[in-house]
Amino acid sequence: MKGGFLISFEGSEGSGKTTQIALLEDRLSATGRKCLLTREPGGTPIGEKIRHLLKFDEDATAMCPETELLLFAASRAQLVRELIDPAISEGKIVLCDRYLDSTTVYQGVARQISADPVQMINHFAVGNRVPDLTVIIDVPANIGLTRARQRSNGGDADRMEQESIDFYERVREGYLLLARSLPERFFVVDGAQEPDVISELIWAEIKRRFGV
Ligand SMILES: Nc1ncnc2c1ncn2[C@@H]1O[C@H](COP(=O)(O)OP(=O)(O)OP(=O)(O)O)[C@@H](O)[C@H]1O
Ligand SMILES: [Mg+2]
Repeated sequence: MKGGFLISFEGSEGSGKTTQIALLEDRLSATGRKCLLTREPGGTPIGEKIRHLLKFDEDATAMCPETELLLFAASRAQLVRELIDPAISEGKIVLCDRYLDSTTVYQGVARQISADPVQMINHFAVGNRVPDLTVIIDVPANIGLTRARQRSNGGDADRMEQESIDFYERVREGYLLLARSLPERFFVVDGAQEPDVISELIWAEIKRRFGV
């Protein structure tokens, strides 16, 4: 049995992460590989409660950036130990919809918490479980936000979706900066293309890296 590994998907709201994870799971399953799909914040019963608090709780508008950072990290710490590590030990390929780079970018770059505590808390939360590959789906902020808003049908946008366009431009730049600083872990794909085209590019990269 080939060993398990972790692929995380990053990119701003509406960039197409969830869409691409579903397409990748189909391709991997067709080869006979077992996958585990999960998401952040959330993925475990404890994590899903934290997710709700972060995204939808009416009191969350009063949340300070430090609290937000720690809650994301808490959800992730649980996810790694309860789901990701055991799945990888069983030889599964874990596809994670957001992971530690979301914290680096959203709480670090976009909310401007300094890099040192963000890195320290990230490392404390995940232990040694760094992704084997991180796919960044890169779209201009206006495209991602338009897609996310269309999906929400103008209804209940979550707290993150209500941020300004400037915030999402900083998020985008933060991801690209991260990818440039660690090119061996990241694969950046242009998310303004058709979903099938993006899926094909991601698949080619995964075959190249892991020989699946
Ligand atoms: N390449 C694409 N071109 C056009 N529309 C797309 C593309 N990929 C996804 N979409 C559509 O855009 C919307 C957002 O896609 P998706 O939910 O996959 O993004 P996401 O990155 O998971 O967003 P979020 O961070 O908010 O969960 C969906 O309605 C989806 O069908
Ligand atoms: Mg999604």
